Amino acid sequence: MPDTFDVIVIGGGPGGYVCAIRAAQLGLKAAVVESRGALGGTCTNVGCIPSKALLQSSHLYEEANHSFAAHGIKVSKVELDLPTMLARKDDVVKQNTQGIEFLLKKNKVAYIKGFARVAKVQTGAHQIAVKDDKGTETTYVTKYVVLASGSEVTPLPGITIDEKQIVSSTGALVLSKVPKTLVVIGAGVIGLEMGSVWRRLGAEVTVIEFLDFILPPMDGEIRKQTQRILEKQGMKFRLGQKVTGAKTGKDGVTLTVEPAKGGAAETVTADVVLVAVGRRAFTTGLGLQEAGVTVSKRGFIEADENFQTNVEGIFAIGDVIGGQMLAHKAEDEGVACAEILSGHASHINYDAIAGVVYTWPEVAGIGKTEEQLKEAGIAYNVGKFPFTANGRARANGDTDGFAKILADAKTDQVLGCHIVGPAAGDLIMEVAVAMEFGASSEDIARTCHAHPQLGEVVKEAALAADKRALHI
Ligand code: NAI
Repeated sequence: MPDTFDVIVIGGGPGGYVCAIRAAQLGLKAAVVESRGALGGTCTNVGCIPSKALLQSSHLYEEANHSFAAHGIKVSKVELDLPTMLARKDDVVKQNTQGIEFLLKKNKVAYIKGFARVAKVQTGAHQIAVKDDKGTETTYVTKYVVLASGSEVTPLPGITIDEKQIVSSTGALVLSKVPKTLVVIGAGVIGLEMGSVWRRLGAEVTVIEFLDFILPPMDGEIRKQTQRILEKQGMKFRLGQKVTGAKTGKDGVTLTVEPAKGGAAETVTADVVLVAVGRRAFTTGLGLQEAGVTVSKRGFIEADENFQTNVEGIFAIGDVIGGQMLAHKAEDEGVACAEILSGHASHINYDAIAGVVYTWPEVAGIGKTEEQLKEAGIAYNVGKFPFTANGRARANGDTDGFAKILADAKTDQVLGCHIVGPAAGDLIMEVAVAMEFGASSEDIARTCHAHPQLGEVVKEAALAADKRALHI
């Protein structure tokens, strides 16, 4: 008799493992199938967590090199020990993946190691076949299936990723030495975060971007300011250009680059090239076609607002259904999906999901951008406040950037907030809570903010939305 579950989640990333834990909390017999050999998905193993470990280490290295002197701290020689930095990152990943394994045990969620596919569709008793690393296939039966298989790197035509000279975000986490020159293709989140790491460690970094601006989903003014700050740090940008080919050789990589709008091609050389032009849904080998699960033209599994696919009892969450490819979006979908499977009502407010870029300063945005409000014809007030006018930012010696709040002109409800500045990712969370409660900018302005705090920038931006900022 095969093992039987109420819910089998395919994929142990932030969407999948959280979904299984929540399902177990609600009394369902749950299992997670994962083929990577470690839980936590792309985010924990080769994404969010290792990149943040390197961002933190490289930030400290840069501070020691360039900021200590102004604080009256003399250091005679700052040396980079890259192997130790990389080993520390691996250790951080291990602590996180093992932590997730512990959480599954604690919640009595079965952890099935192997690659899963939907083997037979049978309402109330779907069959999932799992192949382990020795090639042995075991079948499990489950009432519900949750597809949480995540995403993979989008390839760029004409460019072969070898993870040595031409790397994806995964290869960019394990470079054995600092390249003299690094070209990043794509000025999105990965490009700017990993580009920052290697620039801080000493690489000359040039970012080539197809569009005329960086960080496409962010607010326009924030994008411009972020570019200026990153340029000041030494990062170079070639905007409105596309890479059409790459040749690798002993001396590095030669890229063919053309203006995006057409024109003469030229070559650009680099020791290492990072391809970061986006990610696409991962659905290969899951048996979706055989199961009759509808996949969109762009490759995403189609699911309704209850995460139900077109096949009864088969659900999908996270990167594989599209939308913002963010771990925290996947996590919240996992919780909501488990609650729906358990007969509860649950939903996600997609208007209050923050996006954060962990450069320094950080970049964070939530809700609507000014461009989106203009396009929708919504009248709004805008309040802005710079970090240069914040006492704590000055005390920290960290004054680049500003915060901006967008509020409905009629109701004063907060419609969006965008920040480039120190700890922007943490600061934006008070606005996330405010937006969840349908708060007005006056609500934020009248909330007593402790002094001296970077968060006073958010309060002052809220005051500025009513033209009554106090400290500028
Ligand atoms: P992205 O979608 O953020 O950025 C890709 C960039 O590449 C865009 O600016 C695009 O215009 C550009 N591009 C596309 N084709 C190009 C070409 N041929 N030549 C030059 N530029 C080109 O994708 P990215 O950075 O690869 O990240 C993938 C996903 O992972 C994103 O959805 C992101 O949200 C997520 N992620 C989130 C992080 C965070 O929350 N901090 C960190 C890292 C990734």
